[in-house]
This record gives sequence, structure tokens and C-alpha cells, in this order.
Amino acid sequence: MTNPASSPAQLLDSSGRITFPPGFLWGAATAAYQIEGAATEGGRTPSIWDTFSHTPGRVVAGHTGDVACDHYHRFRDDVKLMAELGLKSYRFSVSWPRVQPGGRGPANQAGLDFYRRLVDDLLEHGIEPWLTLYHWDLPQELEDAGGWPERDTAARFADYAALTHAALGDRVRYWTTFNEPWCSAFLGYGSGVHAPGRNDPAASVRAAHHLMLGHGLAVQALRAARPDHDLGITLNLYAVSPATGSPADADAARRIDALANRSFLDPVLRGAYPADLVEDLRAVTDFSHVRDGDLSVIATPLTMLGINYYSRYVVAAPIEGQEREAYWRAPSCWPASEQVRFVDRGAPVTDMNWEIDAPGLVEVLRRVHRDYPELPLYITENGSAFVDEVTDGGVDDPDRLAYFDSHLRACHEAISHGVPLRGYFAWSLMDNFEWAWGYTKRFGLVYVDYDSQRRIPKSSARWYAEVIRRNGLDA
Ligand code: NOJ
Repeated sequence: MTNPASSPAQLLDSSGRITFPPGFLWGAATAAYQIEGAATEGGRTPSIWDTFSHTPGRVVAGHTGDVACDHYHRFRDDVKLMAELGLKSYRFSVSWPRVQPGGRGPANQAGLDFYRRLVDDLLEHGIEPWLTLYHWDLPQELEDAGGWPERDTAARFADYAALTHAALGDRVRYWTTFNEPWCSAFLGYGSGVHAPGRNDPAASVRAAHHLMLGHGLAVQALRAARPDHDLGITLNLYAVSPATGSPADADAARRIDALANRSFLDPVLRGAYPADLVEDLRAVTDFSHVRDGDLSVIATPLTMLGINYYSRYVVAAPIEGQEREAYWRAPSCWPASEQVRFVDRGAPVTDMNWEIDAPGLVEVLRRVHRDYPELPLYITENGSAFVDEVTDGGVDDPDRLAYFDSHLRACHEAISHGVPLRGYFAWSLMDNFEWAWGYTKRFGLVYVDYDSQRRIPKSSARWYAEVIRRNGLDA
């Protein structure tokens, strides 16, 4: 007998529409450095992204997050906009150097007050706050002391997490420790295309470990303070497939899956590094930075997992002498990428040149559910950059809308296969500082005119509001 709860038909309503489960958490996401601005206000000290973006040549056109979307001053209007869109939840991050300048010592009340006002405003509008503790803005002083490759940074993070939780834990129930620690480790310390811009593969592997250790320590502290809170981490996961059926291409796909996906999934959810990854990285590290007991801290049980999904990697064995591709496809930092080639299949891509692959999202969700069962899952980011134009005061963005539409159908398909997907956050609420790309890439549901700071909801935003209102889509 089939289980009716997992039958796709059950999620179609009587008019044949695709309906999401009751209480599905519809949201949109942002991150502190990408939107807040006010870089020197309220006692905030520099983070590695301030230093990096102010270093010539690091960010396209010399863009910085000094002003960004000026959300620090405009958050009330932004929350109003969220309410107009009908968001059930808003995922944002706290800037570490705003609430604990320098990354050590007492909290900065002015910093905490900003987030308290934001959270109160969200709650007043019936929007569930979803807080990410770390979205890449390490206090510069901690980088000066060695950054994530140093073990002490994990302890500093746990301290910051506890201090923030003590101030906001009475109002916020959903807590994410890290956003995409893969990027912090490998793009920050390996390829150097993200802050702090170091090129040291061994340091990037140590950074990955200490990010996960910080995560485990923080989860223990938060759980001890409030056992009823939902605690998790957000990982960027990819569908990975070999370009052909050859054993060499299959091995290339295995390497990338190990480094991109299982490098964080396995330690955090199983308490062990994948054996094949340890073997692949032998030339880079002997893992002597891993101490007894670390992995059981890292694997402290979670109540949810956040997944950021954007694209698929198609990989093959390398061809001698072939030029390497851009970092987001073949980060030169990836020690294992020496043995792989990222293949461009000529499929449609976004303005980031990322292949659009909605079935890959079904694959990722089903795989995570199969390999790491029981855990409630959330899509904490999904979205696309496209070039936008303001015409007659509006922004029509059919490509972004189609991207959201196909990926929401993918979410629904995964749910119909029994995946416990509990919510979806569009990336992003509004256009913002896209890291090394500055303001040249637009991911927002809402267009931001950076000269006037005017917000213009795009057609995708209107469409998304309707999806939320109906809790579903037309079949
Ligand atoms: C992942 C990151 O978490 C977010 O900060 C970034 O803007 C988006 N992906 C798009 O690249």
C-alpha cells in the first residue's frame, strides 16, 4: 500500500494546483554586509570584507559595502515591503563586528539594539525572524590573529554566538550558525577570490575544520540556553554529474562531490570526514589539526539543515594543457580540481554564468534526505542574477521569474517524494553587494536604484507574493 502522505496527488488541490504543505515557511534572505551599509556607525569595526573591498583590484569597479542598500537606516521601510509581499519569514545575518567589535570582549549595545529593533519590527508585522550568525564578515582583528585557519577563532565564534543569542533568543527561534562555510574556507583562504583573499590550500582545509568546530561549539551553547530553539547550519550544495560514462569522468565527479558537498555534510551530520576526501587531500594536509573529540562536537545534533542551491557542476577528467575555467566553476584553490575539468554543456545560464538546472535541486534534496535522514530541510537560498532594466517605473524580469518557478516546482516534486522540506527562502529580498562582483549582479526580488536608494518590486516579486498567498502554483 502506498503511503498517502508521500503521494504527489495529495499535494494537488481540488482544482489541480500544486499546493505546498500547510505552514510551509515562505521567505526571502539577505546578509548583513551585502545590504546594511553604515559601516562605521554605532560602534561597528571593520570586518575582513571592509578590508578586502577597500583593497584595489579585489572587487569589480572598486565597489564596497560602505553604503550598500542603506538598510541600517531604512530597515523599517524594508520590513514594510516584506509585509506587502506577504513574506512569512525573513532570513538575515548579524554583523559580528557590529555586535562585538573586534570579535572579543563585551557586546556592543548599540549593535544589538539595531537587531532588536529589526526583529521587533518583523514580529509586529507577523514575519518570523530567521537569524544567521555568520555570513562571511569576520572581525578584521581576528583575521589579524590568524583567522579561521587558527583554532582559537572557533572559540571566539562560540562566544559571539552565545552573546548574540543571550540578547535575541527571547525573540528569535530559528538560528543558523554559518552560511556557506565552504566559501569562507575555500574562496577565502584557497583561491583568495573572497575575503581575506589568501592563497593557501592547507590553510583553507584548516579553516573548514575550525568553521565546523565553531558551529558545533555554538550549537552546544545555544542548545544549553534554549533547548526549544531550531538550530542548524546552511550549506551550499550542488548537483554533480560526470560529463560521460567513463570511469575517469565518474572519478572526477566523485572528487568534486567529496570536496563541494560531503566535506561539510559528513562531519556535521555523521561526525566523520569522508575517507575518499582525506585521501584526495593527502598532498595538501595530514589533518593533524583535527583533535580528539572535535568531530563529536562538530556533529552535535541539529534540528534542521539549510541548503543553498543554485546550479549543477558537470565534470570530467582533465585534458592535458587545457585552460582552467573561472573560479566559480573550477576554483584553482580546490586541491582536487587539479584532477578535474568543469564542462560547459551549453545549457542556459544566469548572469553569473551558472547553469540553470532545476532537476538538480530535486536531486540534491532527495540525496540529502536519503543519506542524512530524519532532518527537516529548508532551502535557505535559491535565486538568479539577470540584467534588469527600469522601464516606465517598473522592472519586468521574466527570466528570474521562470527560474523561481522551475525551482519551486522542483521543491514540490521533492516534497512529493517524501523529502521533509519545510520552507523556501528566495535569494534575495533585494539587489545587493554581490561580493567580488560588487553591485554589478542583481539577484533581488526588489530592484534597488543605488543612487536614490529607491526600491522597485520586480515582476518576480509580485509573482512570488501571489505564490505565497496561494501557498502554491498552477500545475
Ligand atoms: C550565496 C551567498 O550566501 C550569498 O551571499 C550570495 O549573494 C549568493 N550565494 C549569490 O551568489
